[in-house]
Amino acid sequence: MNYFDYKDDHLKSEDIFITNITKEVHTPFYCYSAKGLKTNFNILKDAFKDIDTKICYATKSNSNLSILKLLQEEGAGADVVSVGELKKSLIANIDPKNIVFSGVGKTKDEIEYAIVNRIFQINAESISELYVINKIAKELGVVQQVGIRINPDIIGETHKNISTGGLSDKFGIPYSEVKSLYHDKESFKNIELSGIAFHIGSQIHDIEPFRNVFIKTNDLIKEINKSEKIIKTIDLGGGFGVDYEDNHREFPIQEYANLVKNSFDTKNFQFIIEPGRSISWNTGILVTKILYIKKHGEKKFIITDCGMNDLMRPALYDSYHKILPLSKTIDSEIISTDIVGPICESTDKLFSSEEFYDVKEGEFLAILNSGAYGSSMSSNYNARPLVSEILINEDNFTTIRKLQSFEDSIAQEIK
Ligand SMILES: Cc1ncc(COP(=O)(O)O)c(C=O)c1O
Repeated sequence: MNYFDYKDDHLKSEDIFITNITKEVHTPFYCYSAKGLKTNFNILKDAFKDIDTKICYATKSNSNLSILKLLQEEGAGADVVSVGELKKSLIANIDPKNIVFSGVGKTKDEIEYAIVNRIFQINAESISELYVINKIAKELGVVQQVGIRINPDIIGETHKNISTGGLSDKFGIPYSEVKSLYHDKESFKNIELSGIAFHIGSQIHDIEPFRNVFIKTNDLIKEINKSEKIIKTIDLGGGFGVDYEDNHREFPIQEYANLVKNSFDTKNFQFIIEPGRSISWNTGILVTKILYIKKHGEKKFIITDCGMNDLMRPALYDSYHKILPLSKTIDSEIISTDIVGPICESTDKLFSSEEFYDVKEGEFLAILNSGAYGSSMSSNYNARPLVSEILINEDNFTTIRKLQSFEDSIAQEIK
């Protein structure tokens, strides 16, 4: 699905030509399509409509408050990994009953905040964390619902930096250790240990690793629930792969939902999914201006006003983002071209190809598919401000994050 496409040679989303935004907003800026976010969310909602499922959007992929609010209005809950994401989700009116809290290093303050705000489930990732949650819940005089994130020792085929399901990854509690924890009611009186969770990584295209983890988890649940129904909630995580390379590799979401139905006794459990990237990825672009063009012998450099601090994925994961001029030029040039940012790092390279459009200095480019892990991973590196974010909704566009002022960026520093 393309939410940004050419119309009469100009890139458009919904009813807005992106060039018109550049007349009012300083580049670089992120730009999102409300329709895209709603459509992607509803595709998942539809696939899971016959299963009792909470769709907890992984806020780490893009936690802009307007985006959280828009998804909340469509029925989304939230998967958060810090108290900051939890607070943002609550501000966006996401019902605490639809919030799960994951992450290997939750602090006591974060756990306390989550319990006081009555969130649905905390996913514990170590035995020590279980004891801490139990202690805090006891001090608060409540019983908190908790899930154990298991480490199934199953590796999804993906970039090594976004694989999370193997024993050499820091995530979860090893599969072999969790059974006794569910039966240890004596140690965990202030925990209702009724959830099981896993997340084997991000950007997984193949259904097979999911099948394997479902089989393994289902066997474990059967053993644990043998004499008493202890586990009631199964959190399947996120990680549905998306097609950055335009290779017709759409994740088979309906096949995945059917696999859930065939793998578990769905009538007897409540499910959680934690999709992030598959909701936000192609609903956002990063718009940038070409500052300079230069050649080093046979190599051409297009230098833009956005860099790795604005979009970290290419530098961090070598990831590919398609780049298009806002106004299409028919000509392309066969020449080795790097599109690079202004940051003083050689890894500040956004794109590399043997051919690119014959663009000119002063023109604008759109870095496609930047809605997920774009803005949310950006930083102030090189003392650069966080850029503005724009949301298109039909024939309207609004600023949903202002360009950070220099004063705001240094406000917490002491001279
Ligand atoms: C626990 C957890 N859930 C969900 C996600 C979202 O993954 P994705 O954006 O690939 O759907 C992540 C991301 O790594 C995660 O760590």
